[in-house]
This record gives sequence, structure tokens and C-alpha cells, in this order.
Amino acid sequence: MVYDVLVIGGGPGGYRAAERAGHKGMSVCLFEGRSLGGVCLNEGCVPTKTLLYSAKIFDYANGGGDHYGVTTTGAKIDHAKVVARKDKVVKMLVSGVAMQMKGAKVNVVKAQATVVGKDANGITVEANGEKYVGKKLIIASGSVAAVPPIPGLKEAVASGDALTNREILALTEAPKKLIVLGGGVIGLEMASYFNSIGTEVVVVEMMDRIGGPTDKEMSEMLRGIYEKRGVKFMLKTKAVAVNGATLDVEDANGKSTLKADKILVAIGRRANTANMGFENIGLYMERGAIQTDDQMKTNVSDVYAIGDANGKSMLAHTAYREGEVAVNVIAGENDRMDYSAIPAVIYTNPEISSVGETEETAAQKGLKFRVVKMPLMFSGRYIAENEGGNGFVKMILDSDDILIGAAIIGNPGSEMIFGLAMAITRKLTCAEIAKVVFPHPTVGEVFRDAVLEQVK
Ligand code: NAI
Repeated sequence: MVYDVLVIGGGPGGYRAAERAGHKGMSVCLFEGRSLGGVCLNEGCVPTKTLLYSAKIFDYANGGGDHYGVTTTGAKIDHAKVVARKDKVVKMLVSGVAMQMKGAKVNVVKAQATVVGKDANGITVEANGEKYVGKKLIIASGSVAAVPPIPGLKEAVASGDALTNREILALTEAPKKLIVLGGGVIGLEMASYFNSIGTEVVVVEMMDRIGGPTDKEMSEMLRGIYEKRGVKFMLKTKAVAVNGATLDVEDANGKSTLKADKILVAIGRRANTANMGFENIGLYMERGAIQTDDQMKTNVSDVYAIGDANGKSMLAHTAYREGEVAVNVIAGENDRMDYSAIPAVIYTNPEISSVGETEETAAQKGLKFRVVKMPLMFSGRYIAENEGGNGFVKMILDSDDILIGAAIIGNPGSEMIFGLAMAITRKLTCAEIAKVVFPHPTVGEVFRDAVLEQVK
């Protein structure tokens, strides 16, 4: 049989694309070599959030006698139990994805797929020694942790002294001391968890800030909060060599050596596109990332690439939407991917959530803009639920008072940021946003207050 669509990769991009295509009446075959749900569900987004929620509960319980009027004594956290709960959550969700595939009549092949070639019949993929042909191919093969050529690092990963996101989430015994190499999203979320459960954490970051492209002021505030909790940050520090769980670093003052029980390697990810036969159809890639247009089309007709594999925005929610775009385009609709308002969240406590332009990106682009800031203390709900919290919101408005960027440091920013993404996507002005009624009392009202102040 010739399938309408073949999908390589069962992560958020792949399973969403397969499901949408199935619901549109297309015959679909999905290949997954490891586990449905991909990195996000099995060793990324969902497992980390499960761990972080346990840590948050423990932190509240640990807050002291007068914390929120609740007295707790002897609160304990058992890392092995937290990991066991995480495994249960993952299992449940993975079987949920399998059900979704069944519901959409997607044929799931649990095997690594390789592209063999393309001819008049379509694109041929081989898996488990069998050949599958599809009129269209959607590549959603994801990404893997980058392990750069730092002397000794590869060996340390092989020996288990250094861990990527995959191995650290499976550790059942918490290290007493952890070096986090890379102060980006993965580094900060894992630093947050291990700090909460009592591990001594050192974050080594080569830039002068943590959290990468996130709002600079918020990134500095977050660093201050975690420094007070005991996390050590070594900024402008480069890793030069690894020996077991020992790391040689270099900064402006010279070289030093850090010793720990484990090293977490969180210095970025790269597209997972090697050894999949993509060269057999002449797919154009740059540094391993499949190049696509805003309809997810590659240089090869009938072949689409979505999610981390195209390296544009390595986030599960981007992959979902890219998957939907690819399927809509295959179905003949004129859909396009808009990358201007993709929310990003660092799930520390407090969270940093942002969308659209930051002050820095707006300035780099030479845009005319102004910044509006408002403390979260303007929200009664925030005060009630965030003892000692000092969060704030920031909005970037263009010269027509249209919202082009927004960020929030505070909880639960991750549950609010989509509203701002919607406003940016729809190019709403302050006056238009102000006409929307927000529920009271909520933390999100602060955004409306900030907007209202701009309306004369
Ligand atoms: P990242 O790109 O967010 O951060 C890597 C950090 O490592 C950067 O700050 C970089 O300056 C630093 N670095 C690079 N080489 C270094 C070196 N040799 N020595 C010291 N520091 C070095 O990458 P990360 O944290 O590994 O995350 C990977 C991907 O996963 C990202 O694309 C991210 O978007 C995604 N992700 C998203 C999450 C979320 O949305 N909450 C959670 C976890 C991951």
C-alpha cells in the first residue's frame, strides 16, 4: 500500500502531525524507534515538571513554622519516590499518546526508520527490514543533547560521571554535589530541583548571564533568588577539560578545578538527523538542521520537516504547531508558521515566562518601542499566594501601542503567557487588550492594569 503520509518520529511534532493527518482522513504510518512521546514526554518537559512539582511542595512544607500560617515539622523528600512517581506519570501519558494514535487510525511502527529513496510512487522508508511508501513524508526526528569536544567529556558521559537530560532524569540516588554545565533552560530547571532536595549545586556558564535570551533583568533577579538559596553561579566561565566528575574551568582569573559526584551536561541540543538516509533523497541541511520554509517544506518536494529537526525553535509547542502547518499544507490549505510569538518558559520557582520581543531584541532590530513594567504586588492574589515574592511583568509596546513582547517573573506565569501570545499574534493595541475582561482576583490582572495605564 502507498500511505498518504509517513511520519518519522513520535514526539510532540510527529504524533500531533500524525493525529491531525489521520483525523483529516489520510492514511498515516508513524515510525518511533524509542518511545511514543519523544524527548518531551519521556526525558524532557513532562518528567522535569513532575520532579519540580514535588520539589515545590517540599519547599512549601519546608518553609518554616510561620509559613502561610501552616506549621510543618520533619518534611522529607525521597528522590527515589519522586522519580518513581515521574515514571508513573510518563507511562500514563505515553499510553495516552498510543490511544490518540489508535483514535486517529495511525499505523504505529515501533522501529528506527531510514529513508531509502524517492521515485514516482513516493518516498520509501525502511524499518525493521520492511519497506513503506508514502506520497508525503514528515520528518520529526527531534534532537539530541550536544556533547561538544571538551577533552574527557565524551568519556565522562560513557562512564556515567557526566549525564545528559536523559540519564539525570533516571537517577534514583541524588548526588551530594552536582556541577551543572550550562546555565540555560535545562541547567536552571535541574539546578532548581536538586537545590530544593539538598544537593550542592554549581552552575558553570560561559556567558555573563543565565537563561540565555530571556529578559536580562529577570535573569539577574532569578540568579539572585537562587544564590540566596545556595546555588553557586560561575559566569563567564568556560569548561576546558573533564576527568570523571571533575571539571577544569577557566575564567578571567585563570584556571580552577571543580569536583562533584556528577556533572550535568546542558549546553544545548542539536538536530537528530544523522544516519537516517536523508542524503538518499538529497535533503538540504545546515549543521545537521533540515532547512524549511514557513510551510515546513524542505528543498525536496513532498518532504516536510518539523520540530527540533529543523532547528528553528527547539520547543515542543513550536513542534505541535509546525506539525499542524505541515498537515494543513499537505491537505491543500494555505497555512503558514508564525514564529513571532512563541512563548518560552523557564520552570524555576519563580518561573520566567516570555513571548515576542525583549528589550534587547527590539533594540537590535532597530524598532521604536517603549517598556512598561508593573510589580506583581499589584495583584491581591499574588500577595496571598507568594509570600516574600517580588515578581514583575514587563511589556514591550511599539510606536502604535501594539504589544510586541511580554515577560513575567512570577507564578503561574506559564499559565498566563498564552494570553499575551494571542495579543501579539493578533497585533492588539493596548486599547484593544483593555477591553478584555480578566477574572479577579488573578495574577494575570497585572497585565491588564499595566495596559489600562497606557490608555488615555
Ligand atoms: P540552552 O541553549 O538553553 O542553554 C545552554 C547554555 O549553555 C547557554 O547558556 C550557553 O551559553 C551555555 N554553554 C554552552 N557551551 C558552554 C560551555 N562549554 N561551558 C559553559 N557554558 C556553556 O540549552 P539547554 O539548556 O541544553 O536546552 C536545550 C534545549 O531544550 C533548548 O533549545 C530549550 O529550548 C529546550 N528546553 C526547553 C525547556 C522549556 O521550555 N522549559 C526545558 C528544557 C529544555
